[in-house]
Amino acid sequence: MAKHFTSLAELPLPTVLSLLDRSQFFRSQPPAHLDQVLRHKVVANVFFEPSTRTRLSFEMAAKRLGGDVINFDLGNSSVKKGETLYDTLKTLESIGVDALVLRHSDDRVFETLAHLRVPMINAGAGKHEHPSQCLLDLLTLRQEFGSFEGRHILIIGDIRHSRVAGSMILMAPRLGMKITLAGPDDMMPVPLPAHCARAPLDEALPTVDAVMCLRNQFERHEGLALSPAEFHTQWGLTSARAARMQSGAILMHPAPINRGVEIADELVEHPASRIFKQMENGVYARMAILEWILKGEN
Ligand code: CP
Repeated sequence: MAKHFTSLAELPLPTVLSLLDRSQFFRSQPPAHLDQVLRHKVVANVFFEPSTRTRLSFEMAAKRLGGDVINFDLGNSSVKKGETLYDTLKTLESIGVDALVLRHSDDRVFETLAHLRVPMINAGAGKHEHPSQCLLDLLTLRQEFGSFEGRHILIIGDIRHSRVAGSMILMAPRLGMKITLAGPDDMMPVPLPAHCARAPLDEALPTVDAVMCLRNQFERHEGLALSPAEFHTQWGLTSARAARMQSGAILMHPAPINRGVEIADELVEHPASRIFKQMENGVYARMAILEWILKGEN
C-alpha cells in the first residue's frame, strides 16, 4: 500500500504534531544546510484547478530538498482528448514519478484513486479538505501562541464552499481549539458541525485569538443573496471591525484574496496580519509532507 497524504483529519495526532515539528525545523534551517532527502525523487504537480501558492510552494519545497518536479500542463495534455483522471495519473505512475500532488474539483476524488500505487498528496479537493493548507495554518497558530489548547478561532464568510475551513473545522477539536463561525446563511455549512458555534460577527470579534477570513469562492456559487459589495459591508473584515479584535489576536487568510470583499485592502499587511507568514510557512509545511511521504516513515 502506498502512503498518502489526502486528509489531515484522518492522520493520527502524533503524526500531525510530528509534521508540525518537522515544518518548524525546516523553517529554522538555512537552505544550504538541508539534507537533500528528495535527491533522485521526482514529484509531479497535477493541478486540475488554478493555483499559485500551493503548486509553487510544493515545487519550492521539493527543490529545497533536492527533488525534481514535473508540472503537468492540463491545457496541453491528453485530458483534452478525453483521457480520464485515473488514466492520466496511472500514466504518471508508469513513467516513474515518485509522488503525485493533486488538486481537483471533486470533493471525493481520492476515493476513486485507491488502486494507484504512487503516493498521493491532496493539494485541495473540491469543497472538502485542503490538508497542506491546514498544516501551514496550524504551524502559523502554534508559532503565535505556542500551543493549541483553549485557543479560539473565528472563521468568517464562505465556509460552505471552503476546503480550507473544512480541514480546520475537522482538526480544531482534535487539538482542543474552539471554532466560531460567522457569515450569511447561504455560506454556512449544512449541517452546522456539532462542535462549531455560530455568532454575530461584531460580537465574536473581541473574543477570539485568530480571525480567519476566507476567499469568496465565486466559481462554486450558485446564486447567492449578497453581491460582493454587500458581502463586504455585512461580513467583510473592515478596519472598524479589525479594531474590535483583542490585543494579540491575529488575522489570517489562505489567499488568493478578493481585496475589498472578504477583507479590506489596508488590512492585508496590517501588523496583526499573518497572511504572508502563512505563505512562508506553506513551503516548510510542504517540505515536511514530502519528506514524510517519500522517506517511508510513519
Ligand atoms: N491557499 C491556496 O490554496 O492558494 P492557491 O489556490 O493559490 O494554491
